[in-house]
Amino acid sequence: MGHLHPDLLQRLHAAVGDAGLVSDSQAKAPYETDWLKKWTGRSSIVVRPADTAQTAAVMRICHETHTPVVTQGGNTGMSGGATPDGSGAQVVLSTVRMNAIRALDPLNDTLTCEAGVLLANIQAAAQAADRFFPLSLGAEGSCTIGGNLATNAGGIAVLRYGNTRELALGLEVVLPDGRVWDGLRALRKDNAGYDLRDLFIGSEGTLGVITAAVLKLHPRPVARATAWVGARAIDALVGLLAQLRAACGERLVAFEMMSAESLALILAHVTDVRPPLAGAHAFHALIELADTQGDGLAALLEGGLGDALEQGTVQDVALSVSGAQTQSFWKIREGIAQAQMRAGKAVKHDIALPISAIAAFAHEAEAALRAAQPDVRIINFGHLGDGNLHYNVLLPLDTTPEVLAASTAQFNRIVHDIVAAANGSISAEHGVGQLRRDELRHYKSEVEFDLMMRIKQSLDPNQIMNPGKLI
Ligand code: FAD
Ligand code: MLT
Ligand code: ZN
Repeated sequence: MGHLHPDLLQRLHAAVGDAGLVSDSQAKAPYETDWLKKWTGRSSIVVRPADTAQTAAVMRICHETHTPVVTQGGNTGMSGGATPDGSGAQVVLSTVRMNAIRALDPLNDTLTCEAGVLLANIQAAAQAADRFFPLSLGAEGSCTIGGNLATNAGGIAVLRYGNTRELALGLEVVLPDGRVWDGLRALRKDNAGYDLRDLFIGSEGTLGVITAAVLKLHPRPVARATAWVGARAIDALVGLLAQLRAACGERLVAFEMMSAESLALILAHVTDVRPPLAGAHAFHALIELADTQGDGLAALLEGGLGDALEQGTVQDVALSVSGAQTQSFWKIREGIAQAQMRAGKAVKHDIALPISAIAAFAHEAEAALRAAQPDVRIINFGHLGDGNLHYNVLLPLDTTPEVLAASTAQFNRIVHDIVAAANGSISAEHGVGQLRRDELRHYKSEVEFDLMMRIKQSLDPNQIMNPGKLI
């Protein structure tokens, strides 16, 4: 074990009791490896506080003893942000026991809940009140709202409803020294000073522990129309997106893209999925409209895609005719993370670009990668409607750690340089964690990095919050 303060475990036990501690090495193991099985570390202990007061007590102890803390929600993050390092000195603070929905205010359209509530449970609570919480992603059955807030997660409905940031009104945060900031305001307007809420959203456990949040609810859509389209090139899908935005406005909720190679990977590695279209197409899109009124949605989508077919923008269209077919389309889309895990070792890029720059990026990046390694397997998919590509390069399962490290450095520089030249971002929705920490340093300006360091230093002077991540 690393250098632990002699009183640490005893004091933590006094703060959270038996039920709040996991010390057995087998029981700790699931908290020490991430979902992708890419990072494994060793914690001194896993602490599972039952509420905000216990979290504050834990943080006070860690602050006083200079003990590093890794906050963890559902442990589904894709950037290694929730995994402790190998020192054995870091405490994992798991929020799983803080899982109460505290209130739902139908007149204010808000839900207040604790950080450890599973995203799917928030969606269900909203639905039970005839409301809608739009955040939706493949991991929704196991990720927590605290993790969603800490990574400012995106997902499949950002196009219409925004990222997690846009869905949060207030936060409660335990600061690194154990003080509690009660920012649980359920207000749509609040200009009373600096926006601390937005500082903690996306801070990946490096500035404090989010313990609760006030979330914005929306009217529940009652109608849905879904289609799968095939196109010759990514440029065509960018054009289609603009056409559908103009024709459907706010009713366009999802515009997800995948290359032929991504689709082939899913068909080969996920069970019970079938090709949605008969022919072969270089690029595919899964498109969904939704509305709070029932009429005309399918006709609207059919009309828009019919025009696109006629103009030759797309090559083929399958309009979903049943709930089961819609589900089967989404099963394909949501199988991509699993398929990549099974098929090889992915060098992941989670990039954001102006939508108008996507086609040029895809052409330039592919040419540059192929010039570097001619047989490279590019798994290009993502949230085209948000300008967010998961532009991954897949290496064989038996790739050695040395080759993986060298290829990662090479591919990162190629892809991220093109992104930077287009004024894009190297981290769109998965966060920086440990995966992109050095890349962030490479691409942030001195001024921006300096501001970030000053914020970090002023909130966490003992540098105990998630050291080695993000900054
Ligand atoms: P964790 O993995 O536990 O933690 C993530 C980060 O947040 C860490 O840095 C951790 O320290 C910090 N953290 C967690 N809880 C708190 C808290 N209460 N206070 C402070 N810091 C905290 N992400 C997307 O954005 N879009 C997608 O479409 C998407 N699809 C996915 C599909 C699959 C199949 C999987 C496995 C993951 C996907 N993800 C996606 C990534 C992941 O689900 C999100 O990043 C999610 O927000 C993480 O939530 P979590 O509770 O699992 O957080
Ligand atoms: C997705 O969009 O499917 C997720 O962000 C997961 C991934 O990148 O694998
Ligand atoms: Zn994604």
